[in-house]
Amino acid sequence: MSEKPWGGRFESPTDEFVEAFNASTDVDARMYAEDIAGSKAHARMLCEQGILTQEDLNSILRGLDEVLGEIESGEFKFTIALEDVHMNIESQLTKKIGDAGKRLHTARSRNDQVATDTRLYLRSRTDTMIHRIRRLQSVLLTLAGTHADTIMPGFTHLQTAQPVTLGHHLLAYVEMFDRDACRFADARTRMNQCPLGSAALAGTTFNIDRFKTAESLGFDGPTRNSLDSVSDRDFIMELMAAASICAVHLSRFSEELIQWMSAQFNFVDLPDAFCTGSSIMPQKKNPDMPELVRGKSGRIIGGLVAILTTMKGLPLAYNKDMQEDKTAIFDAFDNLEGCLRVFGDMLPGMSVNSEVMHTAASSGFATATDLADALVRAGVPFRDAHEIVGKSVGHCIKAGIELHEMDESACSNIDARLSADMVRLLSVENCVAARNHIGGTAPDQVRKQVAEWNTRLESQHD
Ligand code: ARG
Repeated sequence: MSEKPWGGRFESPTDEFVEAFNASTDVDARMYAEDIAGSKAHARMLCEQGILTQEDLNSILRGLDEVLGEIESGEFKFTIALEDVHMNIESQLTKKIGDAGKRLHTARSRNDQVATDTRLYLRSRTDTMIHRIRRLQSVLLTLAGTHADTIMPGFTHLQTAQPVTLGHHLLAYVEMFDRDACRFADARTRMNQCPLGSAALAGTTFNIDRFKTAESLGFDGPTRNSLDSVSDRDFIMELMAAASICAVHLSRFSEELIQWMSAQFNFVDLPDAFCTGSSIMPQKKNPDMPELVRGKSGRIIGGLVAILTTMKGLPLAYNKDMQEDKTAIFDAFDNLEGCLRVFGDMLPGMSVNSEVMHTAASSGFATATDLADALVRAGVPFRDAHEIVGKSVGHCIKAGIELHEMDESACSNIDARLSADMVRLLSVENCVAARNHIGGTAPDQVRKQVAEWNTRLESQHD
């Protein structure tokens, strides 16, 4: 009984199954460093405010360092009887230093403690995530530069639409990942407020200095409402949303790579080190990494739904339901980080079948819009031009030729305003080169965007 820090008012022990069911150490033990950092900051502040003696502070700091060492060396045994990371560490500290350890919890509660630890932990994980996203962007930029001139079909409805450059296609993902990094950074700013000192829910009767603890833990300042501080999990919802959107981007990219690597597309080949074979079909080389990354988006999105659902009916302030907040976000961060890492490592080894891409872009009448544009330039209204080119495509399908192969008589049979000179100029190279404005697919634009992005990413490193 006496082992439980809250055991005083209880007459019978916790049910054995409940003890295990109630515990969160398997999930929250990973926040040990943040828990210890938070305790040190709290203890220092208590001492500066005259609430704790210098002697007690010294013992606490020394004891916490010892506990930290034990955890990092693997010596420390977390026990479910002590529920969570907070009580495990505090109990070990008290075993080492006695009464001073018992004084550490003055003017705080596990409610503000867990809110603080989780923010601290996720803050550093968010920084790593942003770093990983930026790294993937730089891998994509290198590839985009290499393939500024590589022509492939662009699709809508997965039907050949217009030729684009592979560089341009890859830059689309650079844009998506930029928004992802910005979403994480934005969420980080809002979460960087310190709940410590809010205590259980209402604040504390001691003369604490919340600005001091906030500052020493690298927060921008203390939170302003104690009830909100201990019951707010917006930061988890926001980070989960950012993670889910990023996972969706990776999943779409995965889907494309999987298609591109199929025998039917044959656009790319992924390095052996990132693929696996089949136990029965010897010829198989499967794009397991993009498939798995596509699959991971499911559990990450599931985590977003889980935290939203957990929070939606909770009255203020802390409720035990909130212990469920960490499982999904930790899982999401671990997995998303893994996805970003795999993509960053895999893509430099991807080989591109430029010829196949070029051939695919050159068939399927991908230059039709450009022919219509040429007619418009010759004074034909766009709707008429559309009709004329539509007829031309119909003719080519029957004749088994491409648009640029139509001769003068075929052209004039369709419409007097259509000429062999116009169709002769149709090439996928001309198509992409002509789209030379900001946001367009022209190789010159791709090179320009790559250069601009490289400058932008470099400035983010400073
Ligand atoms: N393990 C708990 C959690 O993760 C810590 C806070 C518990 N507070 C309480 N009053 N039971 O949410």
